[in-house]
Amino acid sequence: MEKMEQLYEGKAKRVYATADAEKVIVSYKDDATALDGLKKGTIAGKGAINNRMSNYLMQILEKQGVKTHFVEELNDRETVVKKVSIVPLEVIIRNISAGSFAKRYGVEEGIVFDEPTVEFSYKNDDLHDPLINSYHAIALKLATKEEIEEIKAMAFKVNEVLKEYFINLGVKLVDFKLEFGRLSDKTLVLADEISPDTCRFWDAETNEKLDKDRFRRDMGGVEDAYKEMMHRVFGE
Ligand code: TMP
Ligand code: ASP
Repeated sequence: MEKMEQLYEGKAKRVYATADAEKVIVSYKDDATALDGLKKGTIAGKGAINNRMSNYLMQILEKQGVKTHFVEELNDRETVVKKVSIVPLEVIIRNISAGSFAKRYGVEEGIVFDEPTVEFSYKNDDLHDPLINSYHAIALKLATKEEIEEIKAMAFKVNEVLKEYFINLGVKLVDFKLEFGRLSDKTLVLADEISPDTCRFWDAETNEKLDKDRFRRDMGGVEDAYKEMMHRVFGE
Protein backbone atom coordinates (compact mmCIF):
# COMPACT_ATOMS: atom_id res chain seq x y z
CA MET A 1 0.00 0.00 0.00
CA GLU A 2 1.38 3.41 -1.05
CA LYS A 3 1.21 6.79 0.66
CA MET A 4 -0.75 9.44 -1.24
CA GLU A 5 -1.31 13.04 -0.12
CA GLN A 6 -0.65 14.09 3.48
CA LEU A 7 -3.96 14.56 5.30
CA TYR A 8 -2.70 15.77 8.65
CA GLU A 9 0.43 16.47 10.63
CA GLY A 10 0.33 16.18 14.40
CA LYS A 11 3.00 16.63 17.04
CA ALA A 12 4.33 13.08 16.77
CA LYS A 13 2.80 11.60 13.59
CA ARG A 14 1.82 12.35 10.00
CA VAL A 15 -1.22 10.80 8.36
CA TYR A 16 -1.42 10.05 4.62
CA ALA A 17 -4.29 9.06 2.35
CA THR A 18 -4.13 5.77 0.45
CA ALA A 19 -5.96 4.45 -2.62
CA ASP A 20 -8.44 2.85 -0.18
CA ALA A 21 -10.87 5.48 1.20
CA GLU A 22 -11.25 3.42 4.41
CA LYS A 23 -7.52 3.25 5.20
CA VAL A 24 -4.73 5.71 5.94
CA ILE A 25 -1.01 5.38 6.62
CA VAL A 26 0.45 6.85 9.81
CA SER A 27 4.13 7.75 9.93
CA TYR A 28 5.73 8.17 13.35
CA LYS A 29 8.22 11.01 13.92
CA ASP A 30 11.00 11.34 16.49
CA ASP A 31 9.59 14.76 17.47
CA ALA A 32 8.37 15.19 21.03
CA THR A 33 6.45 17.98 22.70
CA ALA A 34 5.32 18.45 26.28
CA LEU A 35 3.76 21.08 28.53
CA ASP A 36 1.02 21.89 26.04
CA GLY A 37 3.50 22.15 23.17
CA LEU A 38 5.77 24.67 24.94
CA LYS A 39 8.62 22.20 25.23
CA LYS A 40 9.90 20.78 21.95
CA GLY A 41 12.59 18.27 21.17
CA THR A 42 13.43 15.04 19.46
CA ILE A 43 13.96 11.61 20.93
CA ALA A 44 16.22 9.63 18.59
CA GLY A 45 14.60 6.36 17.53
CA LYS A 46 11.28 7.14 19.23
CA GLY A 47 9.18 6.98 16.05
CA ALA A 48 10.21 3.42 15.27
CA ILE A 49 9.85 2.26 18.89
CA ASN A 50 6.37 3.78 19.30
CA ASN A 51 5.21 2.42 15.94
CA ARG A 52 6.31 -1.13 16.67
CA MET A 53 5.22 -1.17 20.31
CA SER A 54 1.82 0.34 19.61
CA ASN A 55 1.14 -2.13 16.80
CA TYR A 56 2.19 -5.06 18.94
CA LEU A 57 0.01 -3.98 21.88
CA MET A 58 -2.98 -3.36 19.63
CA GLN A 59 -2.67 -6.89 18.26
CA ILE A 60 -2.63 -8.27 21.81
CA LEU A 61 -5.75 -6.23 22.55
CA GLU A 62 -7.50 -7.42 19.37
CA LYS A 63 -6.95 -11.02 20.53
CA GLN A 64 -8.67 -10.08 23.79
CA GLY A 65 -11.69 -8.69 21.96
CA VAL A 66 -10.82 -4.97 21.84
CA LYS A 67 -11.42 -3.51 18.38
CA THR A 68 -8.57 -1.29 17.18
CA HIS A 69 -7.61 0.70 14.09
CA PHE A 70 -4.57 -1.53 13.38
CA VAL A 71 -4.33 -3.09 9.92
CA GLU A 72 -0.72 -3.74 8.90
CA GLU A 73 2.77 -2.58 9.81
CA LEU A 74 4.55 -1.44 6.61
CA ASN A 75 8.02 -0.71 8.01
CA ASP A 76 9.77 0.63 11.12
CA ARG A 77 7.86 3.91 11.16
CA GLU A 78 4.78 3.40 9.00
CA THR A 79 1.55 1.53 9.58
CA VAL A 80 -1.71 1.11 7.70
CA VAL A 81 -4.67 1.83 9.97
CA LYS A 82 -8.41 2.08 9.49
CA LYS A 83 -9.51 5.62 8.74
CA VAL A 84 -11.51 7.01 11.66
CA SER A 85 -13.05 10.22 12.75
CA ILE A 86 -11.45 10.81 16.13
CA VAL A 87 -13.70 11.32 19.16
CA PRO A 88 -12.20 14.55 20.54
CA LEU A 89 -11.61 13.14 24.02
CA GLU A 90 -8.41 12.00 25.68
CA VAL A 91 -9.38 9.06 27.84
CA ILE A 92 -7.04 8.66 30.80
CA ILE A 93 -6.93 5.60 33.01
CA ARG A 94 -4.89 5.61 36.22
CA ASN A 95 -3.80 2.77 38.50
CA ILE A 96 -1.27 4.71 40.61
CA SER A 97 -1.15 8.44 41.45
CA ALA A 98 1.20 10.48 39.26
CA GLY A 99 1.39 13.56 37.06
CA SER A 100 -1.61 15.88 36.94
CA PHE A 101 -3.59 13.71 39.38
CA ALA A 102 -0.93 14.07 42.09
CA LYS A 103 -0.65 17.80 41.38
CA ARG A 104 -4.41 18.53 41.23
CA TYR A 105 -5.23 16.73 44.48
CA GLY A 106 -2.01 17.55 46.35
CA VAL A 107 -0.89 13.95 46.91
CA GLU A 108 2.42 12.23 46.33
CA GLU A 109 3.08 10.04 43.32
CA GLY A 110 2.97 6.28 43.81
CA ILE A 111 -0.28 5.75 45.74
CA VAL A 112 -1.75 2.48 44.44
CA PHE A 113 -5.50 2.84 43.91
CA ASP A 114 -8.01 0.17 45.00
CA GLU A 115 -9.82 0.67 41.68
CA PRO A 116 -8.58 2.24 38.44
CA THR A 117 -9.91 5.72 37.63
CA VAL A 118 -11.08 7.20 34.35
CA GLU A 119 -11.15 10.82 33.27
CA PHE A 120 -11.62 12.73 30.04
CA SER A 121 -9.91 15.76 28.54
CA TYR A 122 -11.47 17.70 25.68
CA LYS A 123 -8.99 17.52 22.79
CA ASN A 124 -8.87 21.18 21.83
CA ASP A 125 -5.52 22.94 21.45
CA ASP A 126 -7.03 26.45 21.69
CA LEU A 127 -8.52 25.54 25.08
CA HIS A 128 -5.40 23.56 26.15
CA ASP A 129 -7.21 20.21 26.43
CA PRO A 130 -9.31 20.98 29.54
CA LEU A 131 -10.56 18.28 31.89
CA ILE A 132 -14.21 17.57 31.04
CA ASN A 133 -16.87 15.38 32.60
CA SER A 134 -19.01 12.98 30.60
CA TYR A 135 -22.17 15.12 30.89
CA HIS A 136 -20.35 18.10 29.41
CA ALA A 137 -18.90 15.91 26.65
CA ILE A 138 -22.44 14.78 25.75
CA ALA A 139 -23.77 18.36 25.97
CA LEU A 140 -21.04 19.50 23.57
CA LYS A 141 -21.95 16.54 21.29
CA LEU A 142 -18.38 15.24 21.40
CA ALA A 143 -19.84 11.75 21.86
CA THR A 144 -23.20 10.18 22.61
CA LYS A 145 -24.10 8.74 26.01
CA GLU A 146 -23.86 5.23 24.54
CA GLU A 147 -20.45 5.98 23.06
CA ILE A 148 -19.17 7.28 26.42
CA GLU A 149 -20.31 4.06 28.11
CA GLU A 150 -18.64 1.94 25.43
CA ILE A 151 -15.44 4.01 25.57
CA LYS A 152 -15.23 3.58 29.36
CA ALA A 153 -15.80 -0.19 29.11
CA MET A 154 -13.17 -0.53 26.37
CA ALA A 155 -10.67 1.63 28.26
CA PHE A 156 -11.01 -0.45 31.46
CA LYS A 157 -10.65 -3.63 29.41
CA VAL A 158 -7.45 -2.24 27.82
CA ASN A 159 -6.21 -1.53 31.35
CA GLU A 160 -6.86 -5.08 32.56
CA VAL A 161 -5.08 -6.62 29.56
CA LEU A 162 -2.09 -4.26 29.54
CA LYS A 163 -1.58 -4.12 33.33
CA GLU A 164 -1.22 -7.91 33.35
CA TYR A 165 0.95 -7.92 30.21
CA PHE A 166 3.39 -5.31 31.54
CA ILE A 167 3.71 -6.67 35.09
CA ASN A 168 4.99 -9.89 33.54
CA LEU A 169 7.74 -7.77 31.96
CA GLY A 170 8.59 -6.19 35.33
CA VAL A 171 6.81 -2.94 34.50
CA LYS A 172 4.03 -1.17 36.43
CA LEU A 173 1.42 0.44 34.18
CA VAL A 174 0.88 3.63 36.21
CA ASP A 175 -1.49 5.47 33.85
CA PHE A 176 -2.12 6.02 30.15
CA LYS A 177 -4.08 8.00 27.61
CA LEU A 178 -6.25 6.47 24.89
CA GLU A 179 -8.09 7.91 21.92
CA PHE A 180 -11.02 6.35 20.15
CA GLY A 181 -12.33 6.79 16.61
CA ARG A 182 -15.45 6.03 14.63
CA LEU A 183 -15.29 3.99 11.44
CA SER A 184 -17.58 5.05 8.57
CA ASP A 185 -20.31 2.74 9.98
CA LYS A 186 -19.90 4.42 13.44
CA THR A 187 -18.20 1.41 15.05
CA LEU A 188 -15.89 2.62 17.83
CA VAL A 189 -12.29 1.44 17.66
CA LEU A 190 -9.20 2.14 19.72
CA ALA A 191 -7.05 4.55 17.67
CA ASP A 192 -3.94 6.74 18.03
CA GLU A 193 -1.08 4.94 19.82
CA ILE A 194 -0.07 3.13 23.00
CA SER A 195 3.59 3.85 23.70
CA PRO A 196 6.01 5.41 26.20
CA ASP A 197 4.68 8.77 24.90
CA THR A 198 1.17 7.98 26.11
CA CYS A 199 1.73 5.71 29.13
CA ARG A 200 3.62 5.98 32.40
CA PHE A 201 5.78 2.90 32.88
CA TRP A 202 7.70 2.34 36.13
CA ASP A 203 10.16 -0.46 36.70
CA ALA A 204 8.41 -2.86 39.09
CA GLU A 205 11.46 -3.21 41.39
CA THR A 206 12.96 0.28 41.45
CA ASN A 207 10.10 2.54 40.25
CA GLU A 208 12.54 3.98 37.70
CA LYS A 209 10.62 5.94 35.06
CA LEU A 210 10.71 4.27 31.63
CA ASP A 211 8.59 6.73 29.64
CA LYS A 212 8.19 10.28 28.33
CA ASP A 213 8.21 11.76 31.85
CA ARG A 214 12.03 11.69 31.53
CA PHE A 215 11.64 14.19 28.65
CA ARG A 216 8.82 16.20 30.27
CA ARG A 217 10.85 16.58 33.48
CA ASP A 218 14.35 16.97 31.93
CA MET A 219 15.57 13.89 33.76
CA GLY A 220 18.01 12.68 31.08
CA GLY A 221 18.22 9.10 29.89
CA VAL A 222 15.21 9.60 27.61
CA GLU A 223 16.41 7.49 24.66
CA ASP A 224 17.63 4.77 27.03
CA ALA A 225 14.20 4.57 28.69
CA TYR A 226 12.49 4.06 25.32
CA LYS A 227 15.11 1.46 24.36
CA GLU A 228 14.61 -0.34 27.67
CA MET A 229 10.86 -0.58 27.05
CA MET A 230 11.59 -1.89 23.54
CA HIS A 231 13.88 -4.47 25.11
CA ARG A 232 11.27 -5.56 27.66
CA VAL A 233 8.59 -5.97 24.97
CA PHE A 234 10.61 -7.44 22.09
CA GLY A 235 13.73 -8.73 23.84
CA GLU A 236 15.94 -6.70 21.49
P1 TMP B 1 -1.25 13.49 33.24
O1 TMP B 1 -0.92 12.92 34.58
O2 TMP B 1 -0.28 14.56 32.79
O3 TMP B 1 -2.67 13.95 33.14
O4 TMP B 1 -1.07 12.30 32.18
C1 TMP B 1 -1.79 11.11 32.30
C2 TMP B 1 -1.33 10.13 31.23
O5 TMP B 1 -1.70 10.58 29.95
C3 TMP B 1 0.18 9.91 31.18
O6 TMP B 1 0.42 8.53 30.98
C4 TMP B 1 0.63 10.69 29.98
C5 TMP B 1 -0.56 10.69 29.09
N1 TMP B 1 -0.71 11.93 28.33
C6 TMP B 1 -0.68 11.92 26.95
O7 TMP B 1 -0.52 10.86 26.34
N2 TMP B 1 -0.85 13.09 26.28
C7 TMP B 1 -1.05 14.29 26.90
O8 TMP B 1 -1.18 15.30 26.22
C8 TMP B 1 -1.08 14.29 28.34
C9 TMP B 1 -1.29 15.57 29.08
C10 TMP B 1 -0.91 13.10 29.00
N1 ASP C 1 2.06 15.88 23.95
C1 ASP C 1 1.50 16.87 24.83
C2 ASP C 1 1.93 18.29 24.49
O1 ASP C 1 2.62 18.55 23.55
C3 ASP C 1 1.75 16.68 26.28
C4 ASP C 1 2.47 15.53 26.88
O2 ASP C 1 2.53 14.41 26.36
O3 ASP C 1 3.02 15.75 27.97
O4 ASP C 1 1.59 19.19 25.19
